[in-house]
Amino acid sequence: MKIAIIGAKGMLGRELLCLLKGAHPKVAVDAYSHHQLDITKPSHEIKKIIGNVDIIYNCAAYTKVDLAESEKDDAFKVNEYGAKMLAEVALGIDAKLVHISTDFVFDGCFDKPIDIATEPNPLSVYGLSKLAGEKKIIESGCKYLIVRTSWLYGAGGKNFVDTIYDKAKVGEDLRVVNDQIGRLTYTEDLAEALVALVDCDAKGVFHAANQGIVTWYDVAAFILDFLKSSSMLEPVLTSEYPTPAKRPSYSVLDISKTEMMIDRKMPLWQDSLTKYLQRKG
Ligand SMILES: NC(=O)c1ccc[n+]([C@@H]2O[C@H](COP(=O)([O-])OP(=O)(O)OC[C@H]3O[C@@H](n4cnc5c(N)ncnc54)[C@H](OP(=O)(O)O)[C@@H]3O)[C@@H](O)[C@H]2O)c1
Repeated sequence: MKIAIIGAKGMLGRELLCLLKGAHPKVAVDAYSHHQLDITKPSHEIKKIIGNVDIIYNCAAYTKVDLAESEKDDAFKVNEYGAKMLAEVALGIDAKLVHISTDFVFDGCFDKPIDIATEPNPLSVYGLSKLAGEKKIIESGCKYLIVRTSWLYGAGGKNFVDTIYDKAKVGEDLRVVNDQIGRLTYTEDLAEALVALVDCDAKGVFHAANQGIVTWYDVAAFILDFLKSSSMLEPVLTSEYPTPAKRPSYSVLDISKTEMMIDRKMPLWQDSLTKYLQRKG
């Protein structure tokens, strides 16, 4: 079995590489950073680089949610056109494309976990570009597994958990949004779920995230408590903290299809966050 990981220097890509490298002697893993493989190049150039593989994990994306509002073409180039190029490659070599998408394809106007069958309605350029990428893959005719996730954190990437951790360590006071609800996701748990889904030969669209429903304020409070930080933490409303990109207020993905497929519950967010914070030292 030959595997290619694209976007391997990103937060999820590096975790997936860690998990797959050396996982099985019969599995060969090639990993490509942005520098080594640009997914906005024509598909025949991408094919020349990766050769014949059985599975392509696409962890590459334009992920600057707020900047995307003013860099629409750049976001679409990577998230829509890049996804299309990888789908063309996958179709040409009969590989399965494992593609990561986002809760931001939904508008957040819900009061119960968001089922796979729910009609997307992105609020932001980033969300629109990721949905456009999903559509290109589905239309391409390639074998695909699209996994939407949310509120990702892990080693080696810019994320909310690290930001709060750094500020709390030096006792900086914090104001954190308490009216956006979602599921936090540790890259290690997501990487394991992706590989388990592939092992089960899952096809189509899935949602994967940690168990438990939180606000950003809950996550910050947990980190402060873990660190026994002297920082003051104040809950604020999204309206008091305007950002260029609009975020969904209720972003809880229904992860039951994934849990049924892999035959286990996703880890609880508190357990995974504790593990991550302990590793940070
Ligand atoms: N982070 C979250 O909270 C979150 C939530 C839901 C879904 N997701 C999705 O999860 C996936 C992984 O996210 P992440 O947080 O790991 O992202 P990340 O840390 O920003 O990594 C993305 C990687 O893609 C690379 N990249 C950008 N443009 C590229 C191109 N044209 N060709 C090849 N590589 C390119 C980046 O390289 P450079 O840095 O060198 O540009 C970076 O290494 C993405 O699909 C994202 O949309 C993320």
